[in-house]
Amino acid sequence: MLTFSFLTLFPELLAPFAGEAILGKARERGLLHVNLVHLRDFSDNRHLKVDDTPYGGGAGMVIRVDVAERALASLPPADEVILLTPAGQPFTQAVAEELAQKAHLAFLCGRYEGFDARTEGLVTRELSIGDFVMMGGEAAAACVLEAVARLRPGVIGDPESHRTDSFSSGLLDYPEYTRPPEWRGQSVPEVLRGGNHGAVARWRREQALARTLARRPDLLPGAALTPQDTQTLLELGASAPQLQAWNAPPPPPPRRARRVKKNGGSEQSG
Ligand SMILES: C[S@@+](CC[C@H](N)C(=O)[O-])C[C@H]1O[C@@H](n2cnc3c(N)ncnc32)[C@H](O)[C@@H]1O
Repeated sequence: MLTFSFLTLFPELLAPFAGEAILGKARERGLLHVNLVHLRDFSDNRHLKVDDTPYGGGAGMVIRVDVAERALASLPPADEVILLTPAGQPFTQAVAEELAQKAHLAFLCGRYEGFDARTEGLVTRELSIGDFVMMGGEAAAACVLEAVARLRPGVIGDPESHRTDSFSSGLLDYPEYTRPPEWRGQSVPEVLRGGNHGAVARWRREQALARTLARRPDLLPGAALTPQDTQTLLELGASAPQLQAWNAPPPPPPRRARRVKKNGGSEQSG
């Protein structure tokens, strides 16, 4: 069981995500637990205020550290206390895989100008979901919930799909097709309809490499490339210095040409 505790001023924003079909079923089956904690319950004033003006002046309000501290103290011990902030560590698939190993994750969702800077001393890490600024941490928390929960055993139907997901394999995922086989002049690639599993696997790997090279070459240094991948990348137009920078292994030795025998069989040339 993995417990997600979300400390927020807007628990109603996170409730639909936690109740979504797959996550809802995973909760019913006891694989996940979602705990929505209202920060206002930890205000110490009769107006239920949790924020105050910033020292030094300036626009906006800041959430008080003592409110965050009391809210966190109300929880059972968490393996990680995560502050969602644009200034945090970038949230990636590798971070999602790490978090999916834990038993209890607590998230502080900010609003306004965010939390008092001293809140950083109460957390184990700070996460950002990208180089942009949203109004609050709830959407960021929902992203982390979705990405982490689907990695837990039993949450999604086919665990094999994780293996080829974008980023898990170090590459972007290959393109997928379904019916109809022809649509507005565009056909599903013939290889996917031929039933040759080896050819399908080779085609998919080549497509994953081509997409990654074209769209996210920055991922290639972290991908576990094989000599055959190096050969494919060379054929796709990658240069030798690029391959060297990505630590790509040398391409496989060229196949020796087959010589056709007079009796119709073939033999290796040598
Ligand atoms: C308006 S933002 C505060 C932005 C802050 N003044 C700054 O520039 O870093 C309010 C809250 O939204 C959340 N938030 C906004 N963008 C985010 C992002 N890219 N990743 C994670 N959380 C984010 C954080 O919890 C933040 O405290």
